[in-house]
Amino acid sequence: MRFSRRCIQVKTLLMLGALGVWLLHLCKDFRDVQTISSHVQIRNDIHQKRKPTTNDLYVFSWQECQRNMSASNASDFNSLPNTIKDFLYYRHCRHFPMLLDFPDKCGGAERSGDVFLLLVIKSSPWNYERREVLRKTWAKERLHNGVWIRRVFIAGTSGSGLETQRMNKLLALEHYEHKDILQWDFDDSFFNLTLKQILFLKWAERNCPNAHFHLNGDDDVFANTDNMVEFLQGLPNNDGSKHLFTGHLIYNVGPIRSPESKYFVPVQVQESDEYPPYCGGGGFLLSGYTASVIYKMSKSIPILPIDDVYMGMCLAKAGLQPVSHMGVKTAGLQLPSESFDNYDPCYYKEILLVHRFIPNEMYLMWSRIHDPHLVCVGDKRMLS
Ligand SMILES: *[C@@H]1O[C@H](CO)[C@@H](O)[C@H](O)[C@H]1NC(C)=O
Ligand SMILES: *[C@@H]1O[C@H](CO)[C@@H](O)[C@H](O)[C@H]1NC(C)=O
Ligand SMILES: *[C@@H]1O[C@H](CO)[C@@H](O)[C@H](O)[C@H]1NC(C)=O
Repeated sequence: MRFSRRCIQVKTLLMLGALGVWLLHLCKDFRDVQTISSHVQIRNDIHQKRKPTTNDLYVFSWQECQRNMSASNASDFNSLPNTIKDFLYYRHCRHFPMLLDFPDKCGGAERSGDVFLLLVIKSSPWNYERREVLRKTWAKERLHNGVWIRRVFIAGTSGSGLETQRMNKLLALEHYEHKDILQWDFDDSFFNLTLKQILFLKWAERNCPNAHFHLNGDDDVFANTDNMVEFLQGLPNNDGSKHLFTGHLIYNVGPIRSPESKYFVPVQVQESDEYPPYCGGGGFLLSGYTASVIYKMSKSIPILPIDDVYMGMCLAKAGLQPVSHMGVKTAGLQLPSESFDNYDPCYYKEILLVHRFIPNEMYLMWSRIHDPHLVCVGDKRMLS
């Protein structure tokens, strides 16, 4: 009798102990969730179109931008494609609320000088597979050669109605796990890429002003970010405080005036037949200093839908030049003959960036160029 009562007491004690441990765990989980949610702002209220309150960090001073009705008095407005009409109606809109943010991406504005290379990757909400493969290949956040590489994907919204909501949920889910998405509430269309770029520069000015360099690129390029870091470290001024803007240099070109082209820019959008020199938008490198100058210039330059040309316009206005880097091949890799293997990792060991790669090629190539047994003979750097 006595024995079994003691047994019950012991059991009770054990159970209470287990309960305590479980409660402790619960508290810890709860703390973790709280920490995450205070760092990651997932703006469900916007998805639900709830009336904004003053607690909504980014919304309280925001009013939906109205269509500019006078845009339709432009000559031959009605003959323009719908995308161009749409562009002209909303050209002046530059403020959109953030749906996903991570203000601490660079460790806060003051400490953002610890970020050597910030990878800024334009990605439309649809491109989940591309983001996943980039996270484990060239865009992995890491310390390389003693300096930090950080990553953000920049996005708007896609689709319409329920589809938009599903896409926003997908991004929110990814962001919850990786904390690497900046999303604004505007339509992520081709002609809104300049808007995306400007919104990012504004974000960088506030949240990451001292990052030394940015790689600004698309989510379908192969970027050898190890080489980029080494190239940037080798510059005479490698703290990002001097002008740098380099990539695949394009000059002596102007707007394409044929309406069938993806890049069609009619006179109603830009009258001048010339573009300033610029770097192809697949990927270019710039210093933190230059990013900040471009943002300042952008405030007084009307938006041009072609984002890379727009960067060139901002540079021109500041009296700065973009320069060519032989290692950036946004028009693809041109090999001397067909007998050369386009996917020979030895080419990719030496370059900075190539357009374009699909996810499985990306994963394979990143792994092959890091293979310690890879043997490359001769110098393949000079191929153009
Ligand atoms: C342009 O549009 C505005 C309003 O949308 C109108 O008041 C104005 O008269 C128009 N100008 C011309 C030249 O048609
Ligand atoms: C609206 O469009 C007209 C005609 O293109 C332009 O002159 C005016 O500056 C635009 N307004 C705004 C607010 O951008
Ligand atoms: C850009 O985004 C705004 C906001 O979603 C939208 O109203 C506009 O139509 C878009 N512009 C283009 C050219 O797609």
